[in-house]
Amino acid sequence: MKTQLENIYNSAKADIEKAQSMNDIDEIRLKYLSRKGEFNSIKKGLKDLSDEDKRTIGALANRITNDLEEMLKEKHDIFYQKELNEKLQHDRIDITLSGKYIPEGKVHPITATTNEIVTIFQNLGFSVVAPELSPEVETEYYNFDMLNVPHDHPARDVQDTFYIKNMPNAVLRSQTSGAQIHVMENQKPPIKVVAPGRVYRNENVNSRKNNFFHQIEGLYVDKGITFGDLKGVLNEFIRLYFGASRPTRFRSSFFPFTEPSAEVDVQCIMCQGKGCRTCSGTGWLEILGAGMVDVNVLKGVGIDPEIYSGFAFGMGIERLSMLKYAIDDIRLFFNNDKRFLEQF
Ligand code: PHE
Repeated sequence: MKTQLENIYNSAKADIEKAQSMNDIDEIRLKYLSRKGEFNSIKKGLKDLSDEDKRTIGALANRITNDLEEMLKEKHDIFYQKELNEKLQHDRIDITLSGKYIPEGKVHPITATTNEIVTIFQNLGFSVVAPELSPEVETEYYNFDMLNVPHDHPARDVQDTFYIKNMPNAVLRSQTSGAQIHVMENQKPPIKVVAPGRVYRNENVNSRKNNFFHQIEGLYVDKGITFGDLKGVLNEFIRLYFGASRPTRFRSSFFPFTEPSAEVDVQCIMCQGKGCRTCSGTGWLEILGAGMVDVNVLKGVGIDPEIYSGFAFGMGIERLSMLKYAIDDIRLFFNNDKRFLEQF
């Protein structure tokens, strides 16, 4: 039995020495050391030996199998490393190849600009009006009457305002100022709100005008609000939105629902004030209308103008966006050209 074991050991050893791959190693292990392998069939014969022989032959069998296991492992590790290296050589990744393009959604520049403006006013203590107090389909009552706009005012003309078929008095709002009325009907002063949204005007479309665009309305009503507060808030907004260095100017103006009224111009970014197509040669672009809320408007919503005063403003979001990002045509915002939209 001893010679038998030694013979198997020698032939296993020779096989291991000849082995060329991990596969060979696996086969050798199977042939000699598995449950059905050659050693096991010999070990089965141990039970018929004398106690003395069992001990010596058993010990020899164990030593031999341990030996073979060790040799197999050593070879296995060598082949494993070798095959791994070959694989790494062969499957090398070319990191200079360009990656896969994964398209990414972007926030529309109008939305981004609106968010930015709203955040500035929130930081100045304004809150955002609930959407139901700022509807896009309005009645003439909110869009004009309550804002002190006379019945013969040219803005009411179908040339300027979109009316809605079969709905007498309904309009697509031409300004966000109607939100002022909704808010004041629903809330007692102090009121300090902004209302962003879309407005519609029956314009001839060109690089500066579209038949819909976006405004943000502001309203601050409390005791003792003055024109100084209006100027302070708007100047602070301009400073935060454009930075300190952008030239701006206040101009006196007129709106039926504010008295006194003003407009704010910002120097044209395309020509640095020299005059170009975007600013129709003036060097300035108007960004907002504003003023002290007219006494008639306060009275109309039941706020006592002897106790309260307030200011309101309405700014054009496209204009503000164009002036910040040097966009020279308002139509770019709306024709969904990816080459434009992907820049934001
Ligand atoms: N609604 C005015 C416009 O669309 C702007 C404005 C708002 C002016 C509030 C004064 C006060 O031109």
